[in-house]
Amino acid sequence: MALWGGRFSGDASAMFKQVNDSLPFDYVMAIEDITGSIAWSKGLVRAGVLTEQEQASLEQCLNTLKQDVEANKVDFSASTEEDIHSFVEAYLTDALGDLGRKLHTGRSRNDQVATDFRLWCKRHLAGLKLDIVNLLDALLSCANRHEQAIIPGYTHLQRAQPVYFAHWCLAYGEMLKRDITRIDDCVRRLNQSPLGCGALAGTSFDVDREKLAEELGFASPCLNSLDAVSDRDFVLELLFVCSTGMMHLSRMAEDLIFYNSGEAGFLQLSDAVTSGSSLMPQKKNPDALELMRGKCGRVFGHLQGLLVTMKGLPLAYNKDMQEDKEGAIDAVNQYHICLCIGVEVLEGLSLNQEATRKAAQQGYANATELADYLVAQNVPFRTAHDIAGQAVVAAIAKGLALEELPIEDLQALHASIQEDVYEWLPLEAVLDKRKYLGGTSHDTVTKALYLELEHLDQLKASLS
Ligand code: ARG
Repeated sequence: MALWGGRFSGDASAMFKQVNDSLPFDYVMAIEDITGSIAWSKGLVRAGVLTEQEQASLEQCLNTLKQDVEANKVDFSASTEEDIHSFVEAYLTDALGDLGRKLHTGRSRNDQVATDFRLWCKRHLAGLKLDIVNLLDALLSCANRHEQAIIPGYTHLQRAQPVYFAHWCLAYGEMLKRDITRIDDCVRRLNQSPLGCGALAGTSFDVDREKLAEELGFASPCLNSLDAVSDRDFVLELLFVCSTGMMHLSRMAEDLIFYNSGEAGFLQLSDAVTSGSSLMPQKKNPDALELMRGKCGRVFGHLQGLLVTMKGLPLAYNKDMQEDKEGAIDAVNQYHICLCIGVEVLEGLSLNQEATRKAAQQGYANATELADYLVAQNVPFRTAHDIAGQAVVAAIAKGLALEELPIEDLQALHASIQEDVYEWLPLEAVLDKRKYLGGTSHDTVTKALYLELEHLDQLKASLS
């Protein structure tokens, strides 16, 4: 039933209902709408609109609906109500008659939807945080399992310098940690209650907005009614959280797709996260990773979409803003799915450590070491760089690795090169030189991993 009988004599057209109704997607806020309504009923007692008894009946009825929603017993698709707010009100009116019709006193769907959606975002950001922590856990375990593995590090997708595989894992760990703090920041800003701001100008009932905020678990009430009902920054920030997080996942996915390729042959993915080809029996495709990469498109699109929707909207509420939900709901869902499948990918991943080691040895990844060796002999770095480059050319011409080049060839390039140069060039020597904070020596990485595992324990403890 429409919420505005008095002013209207004609019915809404079927097409208008299609463009206007949001129940088909905003039913996901049913729990939040019920929670907000219970808090509002208490506010109305404080304002002298409802008696304690009336409030108790409303709360009991709302709790019955809540239980049915939680038990999946409510068929929202069978309802012709416009949105979740009118759905809940119609339910109350059906059950309680005139008492149900009292609840909306002093409240507007504008402050109601802003409150519900903030609560919904808060709940889902907490869920995403848990998902990220699980992925971080899987990354650190993966690093632990492959503690000795060496891979080539790349710039411009060309082999640049060797690194420990654990160092690669910890790099994505840093991104995930930032993603977690981004969620915390987002929640800190959205943690204000719009309830009691009415349609746009505030409410004329003394409901005690501070108390309402407290009852709903917000840190404080929003301070300006016009802003409170028209602000959707919190949805944009949630979409940015999802977009940045997905961007990180897509980079990890891309690295792993490449490592898994026939060309690189660095790792195998488990059957659980790959698919075969309907035509080519030999194929095992990294579909899960490709979708982690591919789903970025729609998530970034949702962020862009809402930015464009919000641009230039006059104060205060406009129906355009109803477009904030479907994108956000989808973004949260896709990000959640990708974080979960990321865990499965990492758990089932097996690294071909011989192949990665061999690849790290090839491609003259130790040319910088030769330059550094010359620097240690007091050769200016620019000159050293030049000589090392010539040594690479000489080695390529002979089909040798740098460390296989005879001493005479090296000495022909610079007289200061002695036999001890060969101590500088092996893989482990190259790696162990990078022993300072943030580098990839075995010691440094082991220490970093230890600290990250400790940090993970603290994170988990803070969530439970
Ligand atoms: N379904 C609406 C939304 O999501 C609720 C607010 C409706 N407010 C209004 N003035 N029509 O935005």
